[in-house]
Amino acid sequence: MSEVPPVHGPTIRPRRLRTTPALRRMVAETSVEPRQLVLPLFVREGIDEPQPISSMPGVVQHTRSSLLGAVTEAAELGLGGVMLFGIPAEKDAVGSGATDPNGVLNLAITDVVAEVGDALTVMSDLCLDEFTDHGHCGVLTADGRVDNDRTLEAYADMARAQAHAGVDMVGPSGMMDGQVAVVREALDAAEHTDVSILAYSAKYASAFFGPFREAVDSSLVGDRRTYQQDSPNAVEGVREALLDVAEGADIVMVKPALAYLDVVRRVRDAVDVPVAAYNVSGEYAMLEAAAANGWIDREPAILETLTAIHRAGADVVLTYWAAEAARLLAR
Ligand code: PBG
Repeated sequence: MSEVPPVHGPTIRPRRLRTTPALRRMVAETSVEPRQLVLPLFVREGIDEPQPISSMPGVVQHTRSSLLGAVTEAAELGLGGVMLFGIPAEKDAVGSGATDPNGVLNLAITDVVAEVGDALTVMSDLCLDEFTDHGHCGVLTADGRVDNDRTLEAYADMARAQAHAGVDMVGPSGMMDGQVAVVREALDAAEHTDVSILAYSAKYASAFFGPFREAVDSSLVGDRRTYQQDSPNAVEGVREALLDVAEGADIVMVKPALAYLDVVRRVRDAVDVPVAAYNVSGEYAMLEAAAANGWIDREPAILETLTAIHRAGADVVLTYWAAEAARLLAR
């Protein structure tokens, strides 16, 4: 048998930089900060007490007044912003509650802006699905298909109503073709040139939106596959983002986040505006369920999740953990 040569320790040792917490902290390539986190919040018409959402433990449908407590806390924690979703008492075929100046979302926008002023960026979901009785993101044709161009007219009205209510940034999320251009034109024509647009650009028809449908009491039957994207497509996600930038989007978003981190990276490399990613309801529910069973260590898993989304290229992350993560980061 030949002699085994003596083994010398390698002189190149990446582990040296992992020796102490201080050193690891110093060389960390990525760190999420509260200012980059946006908290989605639900406000529901006609309730006296906040209502828990069973599939999203810890998240509630707010009353108009409990919402104000949540946004004040968000501001104190130094979050980047809040994204408001409204749940009307009555839904109809055209989603009238979305454009009604006295609709729950428009009233909530005014309340929130009055409460927090410029301390937070106040954003609102610009979509019809919470307001329609069929649950689709647009108005329907006689044979039940989502009518792109008639929906755009409704989005223009909704943009004007939200801007009039005082919103800082609107989030068109219905995946209608041309929605960003139409919203930009409507805002400019109404002299709301400073209201910015966070475009849900690459939004996929995803099973991970499940708990959100409970959160907004969605009446959707069927799916959104004729307007939201197909999960196999990443090049198309980049195309959607580039179109939205050309139409005037100030920020483009990829949604969901975790199953689409490659799309986040590709979009980040392709555009010259900030990129957001939405850590959606199903992603929240999965981790919470595992943690509740004692199967995962909740707090590190939350921070690892948000760090990963940021590392993939998201400058801004929408997450139901925004307030909690800010507290964890301050430790
Ligand atoms: C549409 C909208 C949805 C979500 C945000 N905006 C639902 C959908 O497209 O079906 C999902 C958010 C989440 O799952 O956390 N208004």
